[in-house]
Amino acid sequence: MKKQDVLVQASKLNKSYQTQTGAVHALDGVDVAVRAGEFVALVGPTGSGKTTLLGILAGIEPADNGSVILLGESLQDLDDDDVADLRLRAVGMVYQSYNLFSGFTVRQNVRLPLQLMTRRPPFDASQRTDYLLADFGLPDLAERYPSELSGGQQQLAAIARALATNPPLILADEPTANLDTATARHIVGRLRALADSGEHGVILATHDLRVASQADRVLSLRDGRIVKETAMQPGRSGREVLAELA
Ligand SMILES: Nc1ncnc2c1ncn2[C@@H]1O[C@H](COP(=O)(O)OP(=O)(O)O)[C@@H](O)[C@H]1O
Ligand SMILES: [Mg+2]
Repeated sequence: MKKQDVLVQASKLNKSYQTQTGAVHALDGVDVAVRAGEFVALVGPTGSGKTTLLGILAGIEPADNGSVILLGESLQDLDDDDVADLRLRAVGMVYQSYNLFSGFTVRQNVRLPLQLMTRRPPFDASQRTDYLLADFGLPDLAERYPSELSGGQQQLAAIARALATNPPLILADEPTANLDTATARHIVGRLRALADSGEHGVILATHDLRVASQADRVLSLRDGRIVKETAMQPGRSGREVLAELA
């Protein structure tokens, strides 16, 4: 992966859900592209379409219209198995609701993506798992099941799992929502460093403007549309950035 390679490019995404009370337009003509080396924040009120957008970019659910090109492959041209394979190679997803497997321990959850890979990753699965558990302060919790953890601890396990395969694209859905300030800063610092390495791109949905201010650019979503894009410039004070985002 070279810095500036486009990891994901989505055009004209539309998505509606049918509900008892009529159709909900979750996404309405969204274009987004993320390159290796970029950290992009996605902000917007609850219900603005952040989770829907991340799910479509990851190939977890299809858009009604529009295209997603992930690592150069057009998702609409692939069958379900190939999308699943590509997702495993391309994407680390931190789900808003964690989606840890309840019958697996923390260690087993973190290790699982490495075991599912058809191509062997270039590192030892046990060492990689131990490294991530240590990095996120989870060693003492490694043999516990998700139901034996706090929300924040589950969130940390979900982040560690998303990074297990060292994926080029990291999609993180409000990954710091349940973390204390210091832990949140550690997580965002890790994601920032992955982007800065030039090997990874990050899209992070958040309500926390201090987190968003760490991004290279911030996309503001409202009613399923990107209504504003704010480029961050080094040297601007946090207060200036927060004022512009608010
Ligand atoms: N499975 C679903 N069925 C029906 N409506 C949904 C579904 N998922 C999301 N929505 C609706 O789509 C809109 C966008 O939701 P979502 O992407 O979760 O927003 P956000 O993550 O910004 O809170 C909301 O109005 C939500 O109620
Ligand atoms: Mg959401």
